Amino acid sequence: MNASTIRLILLLAVSILATTLLSGCARASSHRLADSSGATFAEAAVATDHPIASDAGARMLALGGNSVDAAVAASFTLSVVRPYSCGIGGGGFMLIHLPNDPSHGFVSTTINYRETTPGAVGPDFYEQLPDDASTVGATAVGVPGTVAGLLHALDSYGMLPREVVLAPAIEAAEQGFVVDEHYAGAARARIEWFENDPSRKTRFPFLWERFLGAGSIDVGDRIVNPEQARALRLISDDGIAAFYSGPIGEAIVARVRSDGGSIDGPDLRGYEVRTGPPLVGSWGQRSVLAFSPPSSGGVAILQVMRSLNHLGWPTGDPGLDAHLYVEASKHAFADRARYMADPAFAPVPVGPLLDPAMLDTRAASIRRGATSTSDTYGSGVQLPEDGGTSHISVVDSFGGAVACTETINLLFGSQLDVPQFGFCLNNEMDDFLTRRGTSNAFGLTQSERNLPEPGKRPLSSMSPTIVLDGADVRSASVYAVAGASGGPRIISGTLQALLGTSDAPDALSSVSRPRIHHQWSPDVVFVEPEVPAEIRDGLTERGHELRERVEIGVVQLIVRVDRNGRAHYSAASDPRKGGRPAGLD
Ligand code: GLY
Repeated sequence: MNASTIRLILLLAVSILATTLLSGCARASSHRLADSSGATFAEAAVATDHPIASDAGARMLALGGNSVDAAVAASFTLSVVRPYSCGIGGGGFMLIHLPNDPSHGFVSTTINYRETTPGAVGPDFYEQLPDDASTVGATAVGVPGTVAGLLHALDSYGMLPREVVLAPAIEAAEQGFVVDEHYAGAARARIEWFENDPSRKTRFPFLWERFLGAGSIDVGDRIVNPEQARALRLISDDGIAAFYSGPIGEAIVARVRSDGGSIDGPDLRGYEVRTGPPLVGSWGQRSVLAFSPPSSGGVAILQVMRSLNHLGWPTGDPGLDAHLYVEASKHAFADRARYMADPAFAPVPVGPLLDPAMLDTRAASIRRGATSTSDTYGSGVQLPEDGGTSHISVVDSFGGAVACTETINLLFGSQLDVPQFGFCLNNEMDDFLTRRGTSNAFGLTQSERNLPEPGKRPLSSMSPTIVLDGADVRSASVYAVAGASGGPRIISGTLQALLGTSDAPDALSSVSRPRIHHQWSPDVVFVEPEVPAEIRDGLTERGHELRERVEIGVVQLIVRVDRNGRAHYSAASDPRKGGRPAGLD
Protein backbone atom coordinates (compact mmCIF):
# COMPACT_ATOMS: atom_id res chain seq x y z
CA MET A 1 0.00 0.00 0.00
CA ASN A 2 1.58 3.31 -1.02
CA ALA A 3 1.53 6.59 0.91
CA SER A 4 -1.27 8.21 -1.11
CA THR A 5 -3.54 5.15 -0.66
CA ILE A 6 -2.96 5.23 3.12
CA ARG A 7 -3.72 8.99 3.11
CA LEU A 8 -6.94 8.42 1.19
CA ILE A 9 -8.07 5.68 3.58
CA LEU A 10 -7.38 7.96 6.58
CA LEU A 11 -9.28 10.81 4.91
CA LEU A 12 -12.20 8.50 4.23
CA ALA A 13 -12.29 7.36 7.86
CA VAL A 14 -12.22 10.96 9.12
CA SER A 15 -14.87 12.12 6.68
CA ILE A 16 -17.22 9.22 7.48
CA LEU A 17 -16.87 9.99 11.20
CA ALA A 18 -17.38 13.71 10.63
CA THR A 19 -20.43 13.34 8.42
CA THR A 20 -21.98 10.77 10.74
CA LEU A 21 -21.57 13.15 13.68
CA LEU A 22 -22.88 16.08 11.65
CA SER A 23 -25.95 14.25 10.44
CA GLY A 24 -26.57 12.87 13.92
CA CYS A 25 -27.10 9.34 12.73
CA ALA A 26 -25.34 6.54 10.96
CA ARG A 27 -26.81 5.79 7.53
CA ALA A 28 -26.80 2.91 5.14
CA SER A 29 -23.35 2.81 3.63
CA SER A 30 -23.99 0.66 0.62
CA HIS A 31 -24.94 1.97 -2.75
CA ARG A 32 -26.51 0.29 -5.75
CA LEU A 33 -25.95 0.82 -9.47
CA ALA A 34 -29.14 0.09 -11.41
CA ASP A 35 -28.93 -2.67 -13.99
CA SER A 36 -31.00 -0.67 -16.50
CA SER A 37 -31.92 2.93 -17.41
CA GLY A 38 -34.45 3.31 -14.60
CA ALA A 39 -34.67 2.32 -10.94
CA THR A 40 -36.27 3.38 -7.67
CA PHE A 41 -34.20 4.08 -4.56
CA ALA A 42 -35.45 4.47 -0.99
CA GLU A 43 -32.92 7.07 0.24
CA ALA A 44 -31.05 8.96 -2.44
CA ALA A 45 -30.32 8.85 -6.17
CA VAL A 46 -27.93 10.00 -8.89
CA ALA A 47 -28.77 9.98 -12.59
CA THR A 48 -26.07 10.68 -15.18
CA ASP A 49 -25.46 9.56 -18.74
CA HIS A 50 -22.77 7.02 -17.81
CA PRO A 51 -22.98 4.17 -15.21
CA ILE A 52 -19.44 4.82 -13.91
CA ALA A 53 -20.31 8.46 -13.22
CA SER A 54 -23.62 7.64 -11.50
CA ASP A 55 -21.75 5.09 -9.40
CA ALA A 56 -19.11 7.69 -8.46
CA GLY A 57 -21.84 10.02 -7.21
CA ALA A 58 -23.61 7.28 -5.26
CA ARG A 59 -20.30 6.33 -3.62
CA MET A 60 -20.13 9.85 -2.17
CA LEU A 61 -23.71 9.56 -0.88
CA ALA A 62 -22.85 6.23 0.73
CA LEU A 63 -19.92 7.91 2.51
CA GLY A 64 -22.37 10.38 4.06
CA GLY A 65 -21.74 13.11 1.50
CA ASN A 66 -24.48 15.38 0.21
CA SER A 67 -25.73 15.99 -3.31
CA VAL A 68 -22.95 18.51 -4.00
CA ASP A 69 -20.27 15.91 -3.22
CA ALA A 70 -22.12 13.43 -5.44
CA ALA A 71 -22.53 15.87 -8.34
CA VAL A 72 -18.89 16.97 -8.22
CA ALA A 73 -17.62 13.36 -8.12
CA ALA A 74 -19.94 12.44 -10.99
CA SER A 75 -18.86 15.47 -13.02
CA PHE A 76 -15.11 14.83 -12.72
CA THR A 77 -15.81 11.21 -13.66
CA LEU A 78 -17.83 12.25 -16.72
CA SER A 79 -14.80 14.27 -17.80
CA VAL A 80 -13.05 10.89 -18.17
CA VAL A 81 -15.81 8.63 -19.48
CA ARG A 82 -17.68 11.09 -21.75
CA PRO A 83 -14.73 13.07 -23.12
CA TYR A 84 -16.77 14.15 -26.16
CA SER A 85 -19.56 15.69 -24.09
CA CYS A 86 -18.10 17.61 -21.20
CA GLY A 87 -15.05 17.80 -18.97
CA ILE A 88 -12.35 19.93 -17.47
CA GLY A 89 -11.88 21.74 -20.80
CA GLY A 90 -15.46 23.07 -20.72
CA GLY A 91 -17.99 24.86 -18.55
CA GLY A 92 -21.41 24.51 -16.98
CA PHE A 93 -24.21 25.55 -14.67
CA MET A 94 -24.96 24.04 -11.25
CA LEU A 95 -28.25 24.60 -9.40
CA ILE A 96 -28.08 23.64 -5.72
CA HIS A 97 -31.07 23.37 -3.38
CA LEU A 98 -30.29 22.07 0.11
CA PRO A 99 -33.33 22.70 2.33
CA ASN A 100 -31.84 21.26 5.48
CA ASP A 101 -28.23 20.28 4.95
CA PRO A 102 -26.43 19.00 8.08
CA SER A 103 -23.38 21.17 7.31
CA HIS A 104 -24.88 24.20 5.59
CA GLY A 105 -28.51 24.52 6.65
CA PHE A 106 -30.70 26.12 3.96
CA VAL A 107 -28.98 26.79 0.63
CA SER A 108 -30.65 27.66 -2.68
CA THR A 109 -28.16 28.99 -5.18
CA THR A 110 -26.73 28.80 -8.68
CA ILE A 111 -23.09 28.56 -9.75
CA ASN A 112 -22.34 29.82 -13.26
CA TYR A 113 -19.07 28.42 -14.55
CA ARG A 114 -19.72 28.99 -18.23
CA GLU A 115 -16.65 29.66 -20.40
CA THR A 116 -15.60 33.31 -20.91
CA THR A 117 -14.37 35.14 -23.99
CA PRO A 118 -10.56 35.57 -24.14
CA GLY A 119 -9.34 39.16 -23.78
CA ALA A 120 -8.18 39.36 -27.40
CA VAL A 121 -11.60 38.47 -28.88
CA GLY A 122 -14.09 41.23 -29.69
CA PRO A 123 -17.44 41.46 -31.53
CA ASP A 124 -15.86 41.47 -35.02
CA PHE A 125 -13.24 38.81 -34.34
CA TYR A 126 -14.85 36.07 -36.45
CA GLU A 127 -16.14 38.24 -39.31
CA GLN A 128 -12.99 37.85 -41.43
CA LEU A 129 -11.99 34.34 -40.28
CA PRO A 130 -12.84 31.05 -42.03
CA ASP A 131 -16.36 29.71 -41.38
CA ASP A 132 -15.16 27.03 -38.98
CA ALA A 133 -13.11 29.41 -36.78
CA SER A 134 -15.80 29.36 -34.08
CA THR A 135 -16.16 25.58 -34.08
CA VAL A 136 -12.74 24.04 -34.82
CA GLY A 137 -9.36 24.66 -33.21
CA ALA A 138 -7.93 27.27 -30.88
CA THR A 139 -10.00 30.24 -32.06
CA ALA A 140 -13.17 28.38 -31.00
CA VAL A 141 -12.08 27.91 -27.39
CA GLY A 142 -13.56 29.87 -24.48
CA VAL A 143 -11.72 30.13 -21.15
CA PRO A 144 -12.80 26.91 -19.34
CA GLY A 145 -14.82 27.21 -16.12
CA THR A 146 -15.56 23.62 -15.05
CA VAL A 147 -12.72 23.17 -12.57
CA ALA A 148 -13.40 26.56 -10.92
CA GLY A 149 -17.12 25.79 -10.71
CA LEU A 150 -16.79 22.29 -9.30
CA LEU A 151 -14.22 23.28 -6.69
CA HIS A 152 -16.26 26.34 -5.69
CA ALA A 153 -19.30 24.09 -5.20
CA LEU A 154 -17.30 21.57 -3.21
CA ASP A 155 -15.54 24.14 -0.99
CA SER A 156 -18.72 26.09 -0.30
CA TYR A 157 -21.38 23.37 0.02
CA GLY A 158 -19.74 19.93 0.03
CA MET A 159 -19.09 17.73 3.06
CA LEU A 160 -16.29 15.44 1.89
CA PRO A 161 -12.59 16.21 1.27
CA ARG A 162 -11.44 16.99 -2.26
CA GLU A 163 -9.24 13.90 -2.40
CA VAL A 164 -12.20 11.65 -1.63
CA VAL A 165 -14.46 13.31 -4.19
CA LEU A 166 -11.90 13.16 -7.01
CA ALA A 167 -10.83 9.58 -6.27
CA PRO A 168 -13.43 7.84 -8.51
CA ALA A 169 -12.51 10.01 -11.51
CA ILE A 170 -8.80 9.31 -11.08
CA GLU A 171 -9.61 5.61 -10.77
CA ALA A 172 -11.67 5.69 -13.98
CA ALA A 173 -8.88 7.46 -15.85
CA GLU A 174 -6.20 5.05 -14.61
CA GLN A 175 -8.18 1.82 -15.00
CA GLY A 176 -9.98 2.91 -18.14
CA PHE A 177 -13.56 2.51 -19.31
CA VAL A 178 -15.19 0.42 -21.99
CA VAL A 179 -16.52 2.12 -25.12
CA ASP A 180 -20.33 1.86 -25.33
CA GLU A 181 -22.75 2.31 -28.24
CA HIS A 182 -23.17 6.03 -27.69
CA TYR A 183 -19.43 6.66 -27.57
CA ALA A 184 -18.90 4.56 -30.70
CA GLY A 185 -21.65 6.49 -32.53
CA ALA A 186 -20.09 9.82 -31.58
CA ALA A 187 -16.64 8.56 -32.57
CA ARG A 188 -17.85 7.34 -35.99
CA ALA A 189 -19.13 10.83 -36.81
CA ARG A 190 -15.76 12.32 -35.89
CA ILE A 191 -13.70 9.65 -37.67
CA GLU A 192 -15.49 10.48 -40.92
CA TRP A 193 -14.64 14.17 -40.39
CA PHE A 194 -10.95 13.30 -39.81
CA GLU A 195 -10.85 11.07 -42.88
CA ASN A 196 -12.28 13.89 -45.02
CA ASP A 197 -9.11 15.89 -44.34
CA PRO A 198 -6.23 13.73 -43.04
CA SER A 199 -4.23 16.83 -42.00
CA ARG A 200 -6.60 16.97 -39.03
CA LYS A 201 -4.95 13.78 -37.69
CA THR A 202 -1.67 15.60 -37.14
CA ARG A 203 -3.38 18.82 -36.01
CA PHE A 204 -5.33 17.00 -33.23
CA PRO A 205 -3.14 13.90 -32.64
CA PHE A 206 -4.20 12.96 -29.09
CA LEU A 207 -7.88 13.07 -29.98
CA TRP A 208 -7.24 11.02 -33.12
CA GLU A 209 -5.00 8.41 -31.48
CA ARG A 210 -6.50 8.02 -28.03
CA PHE A 211 -10.17 8.94 -28.19
CA LEU A 212 -10.74 7.67 -31.76
CA GLY A 213 -8.23 4.80 -31.73
CA ALA A 214 -6.67 6.15 -34.96
CA GLY A 215 -9.99 5.51 -36.68
CA SER A 216 -10.66 2.03 -35.31
CA ILE A 217 -12.35 2.65 -31.94
CA ASP A 218 -15.36 0.41 -31.42
CA VAL A 219 -17.80 -0.91 -28.82
CA GLY A 220 -15.96 -2.98 -26.22
CA ASP A 221 -12.58 -1.25 -26.58
CA ARG A 222 -11.03 0.07 -23.36
CA ILE A 223 -9.74 3.64 -23.16
CA VAL A 224 -7.16 4.34 -20.46
CA ASN A 225 -6.18 7.96 -19.83
CA PRO A 226 -3.20 8.28 -17.44
CA GLU A 227 -2.67 11.82 -18.73
CA GLN A 228 -6.05 12.98 -17.45
CA ALA A 229 -5.45 11.01 -14.24
CA ARG A 230 -2.37 13.20 -13.77
CA ALA A 231 -4.40 16.37 -14.28
CA LEU A 232 -7.05 15.19 -11.81
CA ARG A 233 -4.38 14.28 -9.26
CA LEU A 234 -2.88 17.77 -9.57
CA ILE A 235 -6.34 19.29 -9.05
CA SER A 236 -6.93 16.98 -6.10
CA ASP A 237 -3.61 17.97 -4.50
CA ASP A 238 -3.36 21.67 -5.37
CA GLY A 239 -6.93 22.73 -6.06
CA ILE A 240 -7.87 25.49 -8.47
CA ALA A 241 -4.29 26.77 -8.83
CA ALA A 242 -3.24 23.57 -10.61
CA PHE A 243 -5.60 24.38 -13.44
CA TYR A 244 -5.64 28.16 -13.70
CA SER A 245 -2.07 29.13 -12.82
CA GLY A 246 -0.21 25.84 -12.59
CA PRO A 247 0.97 23.21 -15.05
CA ILE A 248 -2.42 22.48 -16.61
CA GLY A 249 -3.00 26.16 -17.34
CA GLU A 250 0.48 26.48 -18.84
CA ALA A 251 -0.22 23.50 -21.08
CA ILE A 252 -3.55 25.01 -22.21
CA VAL A 253 -1.93 28.35 -23.09
CA ALA A 254 0.89 26.64 -25.02
CA ARG A 255 -1.54 24.38 -26.90
CA VAL A 256 -3.90 27.22 -27.80
CA ARG A 257 -0.95 29.34 -28.99
CA SER A 258 0.39 26.46 -31.10
CA ASP A 259 -2.92 26.36 -32.98
CA GLY A 260 -3.21 30.12 -33.52
CA GLY A 261 -5.52 31.05 -30.61
CA SER A 262 -5.24 33.78 -28.03
CA ILE A 263 -6.06 32.45 -24.54
CA ASP A 264 -3.25 33.63 -22.25
CA GLY A 265 -2.24 33.42 -18.59
CA PRO A 266 -4.28 36.47 -17.48
CA ASP A 267 -7.40 35.00 -19.16
CA LEU A 268 -7.03 31.84 -17.10
CA ARG A 269 -5.93 33.48 -13.85
CA GLY A 270 -8.79 35.98 -14.14
CA TYR A 271 -11.50 33.33 -14.46
CA GLU A 272 -14.22 33.66 -11.80
CA VAL A 273 -17.43 31.76 -11.16
CA ARG A 274 -20.63 33.78 -10.79
CA THR A 275 -23.20 32.93 -8.16
CA GLY A 276 -26.75 34.09 -7.53
CA PRO A 277 -30.23 32.96 -6.56
CA PRO A 278 -32.21 30.73 -8.92
CA LEU A 279 -35.18 32.03 -10.88
CA VAL A 280 -38.38 30.91 -9.17
CA GLY A 281 -41.58 30.17 -11.08
CA SER A 282 -44.57 27.95 -10.64
CA TRP A 283 -46.08 24.88 -12.24
CA GLY A 284 -49.56 24.41 -10.80
CA GLN A 285 -49.10 24.30 -7.04
CA ARG A 286 -45.39 23.49 -7.36
CA SER A 287 -42.38 25.83 -7.32
CA VAL A 288 -39.83 25.58 -10.11
CA LEU A 289 -36.20 26.61 -9.54
CA ALA A 290 -34.41 27.44 -12.77
CA PHE A 291 -31.17 29.00 -14.05
CA SER A 292 -31.01 32.68 -15.01
CA PRO A 293 -29.24 34.06 -18.12
CA PRO A 294 -26.85 33.39 -19.76
CA SER A 295 -28.92 30.21 -19.54
CA SER A 296 -31.86 30.78 -21.86
CA GLY A 297 -33.41 27.53 -20.64
CA GLY A 298 -34.57 28.76 -17.25
CA VAL A 299 -36.65 31.62 -18.65
CA ALA A 300 -37.96 29.43 -21.49
CA ILE A 301 -39.04 26.61 -19.17
CA LEU A 302 -40.81 28.96 -16.77
CA GLN A 303 -42.52 30.73 -19.70
CA VAL A 304 -43.77 27.49 -21.28
CA MET A 305 -44.96 26.06 -17.97
CA ARG A 306 -46.91 29.25 -17.16
CA SER A 307 -48.47 29.34 -20.64
CA LEU A 308 -49.51 25.68 -20.50
CA ASN A 309 -51.05 26.17 -17.05
CA HIS A 310 -53.03 29.10 -18.44
CA LEU A 311 -54.25 27.03 -21.38
CA GLY A 312 -55.53 24.21 -19.15
CA TRP A 313 -52.91 21.79 -20.47
CA PRO A 314 -53.15 18.79 -20.68
CA THR A 315 -56.52 18.90 -22.45
CA GLY A 316 -56.85 15.14 -22.95
CA ASP A 317 -56.35 15.49 -26.74
CA PRO A 318 -52.71 14.52 -27.53
CA GLY A 319 -52.71 16.35 -30.90
CA LEU A 320 -54.01 19.58 -29.35
CA ASP A 321 -51.62 19.23 -26.41
CA ALA A 322 -48.66 18.91 -28.78
CA HIS A 323 -49.86 21.98 -30.74
CA LEU A 324 -50.25 24.11 -27.58
CA TYR A 325 -46.80 23.00 -26.39
CA VAL A 326 -45.26 23.93 -29.76
CA GLU A 327 -46.97 27.35 -29.82
CA ALA A 328 -45.73 28.13 -26.29
CA SER A 329 -42.21 26.98 -27.31
CA LYS A 330 -42.23 29.21 -30.40
CA HIS A 331 -42.94 32.24 -28.20
CA ALA A 332 -40.19 31.24 -25.76
CA PHE A 333 -37.58 30.60 -28.47
CA ALA A 334 -38.47 33.87 -30.24
CA ASP A 335 -37.73 35.66 -26.95
CA ARG A 336 -34.50 33.68 -26.71
CA ALA A 337 -33.41 34.91 -30.13
CA ARG A 338 -34.33 38.55 -29.47
CA TYR A 339 -33.42 39.20 -25.87
CA MET A 340 -31.08 36.62 -24.39
CA ALA A 341 -27.39 37.10 -23.69
CA ASP A 342 -24.96 37.45 -20.80
CA PRO A 343 -26.69 39.93 -18.45
CA ALA A 344 -23.31 41.21 -17.24
CA PHE A 345 -22.82 42.72 -20.71
CA ALA A 346 -26.29 43.33 -22.16
CA PRO A 347 -29.53 44.06 -20.33
CA VAL A 348 -31.78 40.99 -20.39
CA PRO A 349 -35.39 41.83 -19.43
CA VAL A 350 -35.94 38.74 -17.27
CA GLY A 351 -38.68 40.41 -15.18
CA PRO A 352 -40.81 41.46 -18.16
CA LEU A 353 -40.19 38.11 -19.89
CA LEU A 354 -41.56 36.28 -16.85
CA ASP A 355 -44.34 38.75 -16.10
CA PRO A 356 -47.41 36.57 -15.37
CA ALA A 357 -49.86 39.03 -16.96
CA MET A 358 -47.81 39.21 -20.19
CA LEU A 359 -47.48 35.42 -20.32
CA ASP A 360 -51.20 34.89 -19.71
CA THR A 361 -52.17 37.42 -22.38
CA ARG A 362 -49.78 35.79 -24.81
CA ALA A 363 -51.07 32.30 -23.99
CA ALA A 364 -54.65 33.50 -24.51
CA SER A 365 -53.70 34.64 -28.02
CA ILE A 366 -52.58 31.14 -29.04
CA ARG A 367 -55.01 29.70 -31.57
CA ARG A 368 -56.18 26.16 -30.82
CA GLY A 369 -56.97 25.26 -34.41
CA ALA A 370 -53.93 26.55 -36.30
CA THR A 371 -50.39 27.77 -36.01
CA SER A 372 -49.47 31.30 -37.05
CA THR A 373 -46.84 32.51 -39.50
CA SER A 374 -43.52 33.56 -38.03
CA ASP A 375 -40.65 35.53 -39.47
CA THR A 376 -38.05 32.89 -40.23
CA TYR A 377 -34.44 33.29 -41.17
CA GLY A 378 -32.23 30.24 -41.15
CA SER A 379 -35.13 28.00 -42.20
CA GLY A 380 -33.84 24.72 -43.64
CA VAL A 381 -30.62 24.87 -41.66
CA GLN A 382 -29.36 21.36 -40.99
CA LEU A 383 -29.06 20.77 -37.25
CA PRO A 384 -25.91 18.88 -36.20
CA GLU A 385 -26.00 15.65 -34.25
CA ASP A 386 -25.00 17.02 -30.88
CA GLY A 387 -23.00 14.65 -28.73
CA GLY A 388 -21.74 17.38 -26.48
CA THR A 389 -23.12 18.27 -23.07
CA SER A 390 -23.97 16.10 -20.11
CA HIS A 391 -26.38 16.45 -17.20
CA ILE A 392 -26.27 15.20 -13.60
CA SER A 393 -29.35 15.00 -11.33
CA VAL A 394 -28.90 14.16 -7.63
CA VAL A 395 -31.13 13.90 -4.55
CA ASP A 396 -29.42 13.15 -1.24
CA SER A 397 -30.51 11.55 2.04
CA PHE A 398 -30.93 15.00 3.64
CA GLY A 399 -33.57 16.07 1.09
CA GLY A 400 -31.08 18.22 -0.83
CA ALA A 401 -30.75 18.27 -4.61
CA VAL A 402 -28.35 19.32 -7.35
CA ALA A 403 -29.07 19.77 -11.05
CA CYS A 404 -25.89 20.32 -13.02
CA THR A 405 -25.40 20.62 -16.78
CA GLU A 406 -21.95 20.85 -18.33
CA THR A 407 -20.58 20.95 -21.83
CA ILE A 408 -17.67 21.35 -24.21
CA ASN A 409 -20.35 22.19 -26.87
CA LEU A 410 -20.09 19.99 -30.01
CA LEU A 411 -18.60 16.46 -30.14
CA PHE A 412 -15.09 16.67 -28.64
CA GLY A 413 -15.53 20.48 -28.48
CA SER A 414 -13.00 22.38 -30.61
CA GLN A 415 -11.09 19.10 -31.22
CA LEU A 416 -8.08 20.94 -29.72
CA ASP A 417 -6.51 18.40 -27.40
CA VAL A 418 -4.15 19.01 -24.49
CA PRO A 419 -2.05 15.83 -24.85
CA GLN A 420 -0.07 16.12 -21.58
CA PHE A 421 -3.34 16.10 -19.62
CA GLY A 422 -5.65 13.98 -21.80
CA PHE A 423 -8.63 16.25 -22.55
CA CYS A 424 -10.18 18.35 -25.31
CA LEU A 425 -10.97 22.05 -25.06
CA ASN A 426 -14.46 23.38 -25.71
CA ASN A 427 -15.77 25.24 -28.77
CA GLU A 428 -18.21 27.28 -26.74
CA MET A 429 -17.40 30.46 -28.71
CA ASP A 430 -19.85 29.16 -31.34
CA ASP A 431 -22.69 29.77 -28.87
CA PHE A 432 -22.13 33.49 -29.48
CA LEU A 433 -23.43 35.34 -32.52
CA THR A 434 -20.05 35.08 -34.24
CA ARG A 435 -21.10 36.53 -37.63
CA ARG A 436 -23.96 38.99 -37.88
CA GLY A 437 -26.92 37.66 -39.86
CA THR A 438 -26.00 33.99 -39.50
CA SER A 439 -27.19 31.22 -37.21
CA ASN A 440 -24.95 29.02 -35.08
CA ALA A 441 -24.23 25.27 -35.35
CA PHE A 442 -27.63 24.53 -33.78
CA GLY A 443 -29.45 26.68 -36.33
CA LEU A 444 -30.21 29.24 -33.61
CA THR A 445 -30.61 32.85 -34.60
CA GLN A 446 -29.44 35.30 -31.97
CA SER A 447 -29.36 39.05 -31.44
CA GLU A 448 -26.32 41.30 -31.35
CA ARG A 449 -26.63 41.28 -27.56
CA ASN A 450 -24.90 37.91 -27.85
CA LEU A 451 -21.82 39.10 -29.76
CA PRO A 452 -18.51 38.10 -28.13
CA GLU A 453 -16.69 40.63 -25.90
CA PRO A 454 -13.72 40.08 -23.58
CA GLY A 455 -14.90 38.32 -20.42
CA LYS A 456 -18.44 37.74 -21.74
CA ARG A 457 -20.16 34.33 -21.47
CA PRO A 458 -22.02 32.89 -24.47
CA LEU A 459 -25.76 32.33 -24.35
CA SER A 460 -26.66 28.75 -23.46
CA SER A 461 -29.62 26.40 -23.60
CA MET A 462 -28.44 24.41 -20.58
CA SER A 463 -31.40 24.18 -18.20
CA PRO A 464 -30.71 22.53 -14.84
CA THR A 465 -34.08 22.56 -13.05
CA ILE A 466 -35.42 21.55 -9.63
CA VAL A 467 -39.16 21.32 -8.86
CA LEU A 468 -40.42 21.63 -5.29
CA ASP A 469 -43.66 20.17 -3.99
CA GLY A 470 -45.27 23.40 -2.82
CA ALA A 471 -45.28 27.17 -3.06
CA ASP A 472 -42.96 27.90 -0.11
CA VAL A 473 -39.40 27.44 -1.37
CA ARG A 474 -37.98 27.26 2.16
CA SER A 475 -40.22 24.45 3.37
CA ALA A 476 -41.33 22.50 0.27
CA SER A 477 -39.58 19.20 -0.34
CA VAL A 478 -37.87 18.30 -3.59
CA TYR A 479 -40.29 16.78 -6.12
CA ALA A 480 -38.11 16.46 -9.23
CA VAL A 481 -34.62 17.18 -10.55
CA ALA A 482 -34.00 17.36 -14.29
CA GLY A 483 -31.83 18.62 -17.10
CA ALA A 484 -30.53 17.45 -20.43
CA SER A 485 -27.94 17.57 -23.17
CA GLY A 486 -28.71 18.37 -26.81
CA GLY A 487 -28.18 22.05 -27.65
CA PRO A 488 -31.53 23.88 -27.87
CA ARG A 489 -33.28 20.53 -27.53
CA ILE A 490 -32.12 20.61 -23.90
CA ILE A 491 -35.02 22.97 -23.18
CA SER A 492 -37.59 20.73 -24.91
CA GLY A 493 -36.23 17.52 -23.37
CA THR A 494 -36.17 18.93 -19.85
CA LEU A 495 -39.64 20.43 -20.18
CA GLN A 496 -41.28 17.33 -21.64
CA ALA A 497 -39.68 14.98 -19.10
CA LEU A 498 -40.91 17.22 -16.26
CA LEU A 499 -44.39 17.69 -17.74
CA GLY A 500 -44.60 13.92 -18.21
CA THR A 501 -44.17 13.29 -14.49
CA SER A 502 -47.76 14.42 -13.95
CA ASP A 503 -49.09 11.16 -15.38
CA ALA A 504 -46.10 8.82 -15.90
CA PRO A 505 -45.77 6.13 -13.21
CA ASP A 506 -42.02 6.61 -12.87
CA ALA A 507 -39.06 8.62 -14.14
CA LEU A 508 -38.11 6.17 -16.91
CA SER A 509 -41.63 6.19 -18.38
CA SER A 510 -41.53 9.97 -18.63
CA VAL A 511 -38.00 10.14 -20.04
CA SER A 512 -38.66 7.38 -22.58
CA ARG A 513 -41.64 9.10 -24.22
CA PRO A 514 -40.94 10.30 -27.77
CA ARG A 515 -40.34 14.04 -27.89
CA ILE A 516 -40.99 17.03 -30.14
CA HIS A 517 -39.06 20.30 -30.52
CA HIS A 518 -39.70 23.72 -32.04
CA GLN A 519 -37.12 26.48 -31.70
CA TRP A 520 -39.08 29.20 -33.59
CA SER A 521 -36.47 29.37 -36.32
CA PRO A 522 -36.47 27.29 -38.49
CA ASP A 523 -40.31 27.15 -38.48
CA VAL A 524 -40.43 23.37 -38.22
CA VAL A 525 -41.55 20.91 -35.55
CA PHE A 526 -38.84 18.29 -35.09
CA VAL A 527 -40.35 14.94 -34.10
CA GLU A 528 -38.61 11.80 -32.96
CA PRO A 529 -39.42 8.79 -35.21
CA GLU A 530 -41.52 7.16 -32.46
CA VAL A 531 -43.92 10.13 -32.11
CA PRO A 532 -47.38 8.54 -32.68
CA ALA A 533 -49.73 9.34 -35.57
CA GLU A 534 -52.36 11.10 -33.44
CA ILE A 535 -49.75 13.69 -32.39
CA ARG A 536 -48.34 14.08 -35.93
CA ASP A 537 -51.87 14.46 -37.34
CA GLY A 538 -52.83 16.92 -34.60
CA LEU A 539 -49.86 19.07 -35.61
CA THR A 540 -50.08 18.83 -39.40
CA GLU A 541 -53.81 19.57 -39.47
CA ARG A 542 -53.02 22.79 -37.60
CA GLY A 543 -50.50 23.86 -40.24
CA HIS A 544 -47.20 22.75 -38.70
CA GLU A 545 -44.44 21.37 -40.91
CA LEU A 546 -42.89 18.25 -39.35
CA ARG A 547 -39.35 16.96 -39.75
CA GLU A 548 -38.02 13.75 -38.18
CA ARG A 549 -34.84 13.70 -36.14
CA VAL A 550 -33.47 11.34 -33.53
CA GLU A 551 -32.50 12.21 -29.97
CA ILE A 552 -34.41 15.35 -29.02
CA GLY A 553 -32.39 15.85 -25.86
CA VAL A 554 -30.90 13.30 -23.47
CA VAL A 555 -32.54 13.77 -20.06
CA GLN A 556 -31.47 12.73 -16.57
CA LEU A 557 -34.54 12.80 -14.29
CA ILE A 558 -35.22 12.01 -10.64
CA VAL A 559 -38.79 12.25 -9.35
CA ARG A 560 -40.25 11.54 -5.93
CA VAL A 561 -42.78 8.72 -5.92
CA ASP A 562 -44.76 7.05 -3.17
CA ARG A 563 -44.04 3.38 -2.49
CA ASN A 564 -46.08 1.80 0.31
CA GLY A 565 -46.87 5.23 1.73
CA ARG A 566 -43.21 6.30 1.85
CA ALA A 567 -41.31 8.68 -0.40
CA HIS A 568 -38.81 7.04 -2.72
CA TYR A 569 -36.78 8.44 -5.63
CA SER A 570 -37.45 7.14 -9.11
CA ALA A 571 -34.40 7.86 -11.25
CA ALA A 572 -33.85 7.58 -14.99
CA SER A 573 -30.79 7.95 -17.16
CA ASP A 574 -32.13 8.57 -20.63
CA PRO A 575 -31.94 5.31 -22.68
CA ARG A 576 -31.00 7.55 -25.65
CA LYS A 577 -27.43 7.74 -24.31
CA GLY A 578 -27.02 4.52 -22.35
CA GLY A 579 -26.54 5.78 -18.81
CA ARG A 580 -27.76 4.06 -15.65
CA PRO A 581 -28.73 5.67 -12.34
CA ALA A 582 -27.38 4.68 -8.93
CA GLY A 583 -28.50 5.37 -5.40
CA LEU A 584 -28.99 4.33 -1.80
CA ASP A 585 -31.73 2.10 -0.34
N1 GLY B 1 -23.29 24.47 -25.88
C1 GLY B 1 -24.67 24.28 -25.83
C2 GLY B 1 -25.36 25.19 -24.90
O1 GLY B 1 -24.76 25.63 -23.93
O2 GLY B 1 -26.51 25.52 -25.12
